[in-house]
Amino acid sequence: MYKIDAATKLADRVYEYWIRAPQVAQHARAGQFIILRLHEAGERIPLTISAIRGDTVRVIFMTVGKTTEELATLGAGDSISDVVGPLGKPSEIGNYGTCCVIGGGVGIASTPLIAKELKSAGNHVIGIIGARSADLLILEDEMREICDELHITTDDGSKGVHGFAADVLKKLLAERKIDRVWIIGPAIMMKVTAGATVPYGVKTYVSLNPIMVDGTGMCGSCRVTVGGETKFACVDGPEFDAHQVDFNELMQRQRIYTGQEKASLERFAE
Ligand code: FES
Repeated sequence: MYKIDAATKLADRVYEYWIRAPQVAQHARAGQFIILRLHEAGERIPLTISAIRGDTVRVIFMTVGKTTEELATLGAGDSISDVVGPLGKPSEIGNYGTCCVIGGGVGIASTPLIAKELKSAGNHVIGIIGARSADLLILEDEMREICDELHITTDDGSKGVHGFAADVLKKLLAERKIDRVWIIGPAIMMKVTAGATVPYGVKTYVSLNPIMVDGTGMCGSCRVTVGGETKFACVDGPEFDAHQVDFNELMQRQRIYTGQEKASLERFAE
């Protein structure tokens, strides 16, 4: 059993849990994830490792279905049946020069660890975090502390730049040399934002979030097309070259179980 050391609600439907998982904490690197199962009959869900502190790892999730709704009913002192990880390949951290780390919505959860490792590797790190509105913006203080500069965007203009991360990125790219870009967020946001770096030929990584089951490359549920080849996000990713990803296929496959997910959530709510 894996104990939840601390549980905090960060925003509407967004929760932060610190889970005691020494083996995971010891080996985890930026860009990797865990798969957890609440109990024996539970579904397995992948969550990015957002931070590491001693024997604990932090995950941040939004309630979007039955399992995340059930997870949100737990609190500090409760336990989770299974935590497997760290899974996936770590981010390709190196000393590139100037790097931009972009998070959208709950995807911001992935940014601190990547930004931190890039900073330690000697890069000048620019953070861009965006949300629909100010009350949904998470980890601002933490990112401000890690990054050399931080830009904020909101869709409704309630904080920072009124607009999208892609708008800020386009402006930065026009003004100065950026050597690497990471983008983590909803598929459509990653697709649009990654489009900004194409004319500049800047290597851009996205962290893909397809449906996952086993997390070990066996079931095939997380398959994505990158550069015309089939890849498994759980073992070949989750980070891939953004300019090679077939985002339309990813978004279509993410919707496959929408009907079943809705029915399952309704049963849980009864
Ligand atoms: Fe099964 Fe990736 S989750 S192959």
